[in-house]
Amino acid sequence: MSESLYIPTGTSKEEKYLSLLPQIEALISGEEDLVANLANISAALKEAFGFFWVGFYLVKGGELVLGPFQGPIACTRIGYGKGVCGTAWKEGKTQLVPDVDAFPGHIACSSASKSEIVVPVTKDGEVIMVLDVDSDQLNDFDETDQKHLEQLMRFLEGKI
Ligand code: SME
Repeated sequence: MSESLYIPTGTSKEEKYLSLLPQIEALISGEEDLVANLANISAALKEAFGFFWVGFYLVKGGELVLGPFQGPIACTRIGYGKGVCGTAWKEGKTQLVPDVDAFPGHIACSSASKSEIVVPVTKDGEVIMVLDVDSDQLNDFDETDQKHLEQLMRFLEGKI
């Protein structure tokens, strides 16, 4: 397994995802440990795109609890239906938030976070964790991010 990523520069976001995702999938397919895989997914997305914060919240004991992440320290627990992460959990659907201040109930772990995408991960029809990606730029996520991050989470689900 290669322990460095090839990240093309000067290309579109779509091309970056197309280069990066097979590398992430190769990286996690050789490893069975969930925490190790969540840690490397977070690191790879942060390194490739320079996002402000990338990480996972895991459903534990009826709430979301902070898991592996890259970025500044963050809120450790989020309730069902609360914030963007808790909404993704409740609805079982990706939340694409161009302006976090316009999202009712957004939880500001950092005032630097301006836009956000949260993708749920399911097992046996139940959300078991969410991937949360935050940007310090407004309107930084679109359907390209949604498509590729959802594809990556479907791959992860196949490993769980
Ligand atoms: N903003 C998220 C909370 C998690 S942090 O951004 C890392 C939310 O509203 O659920």
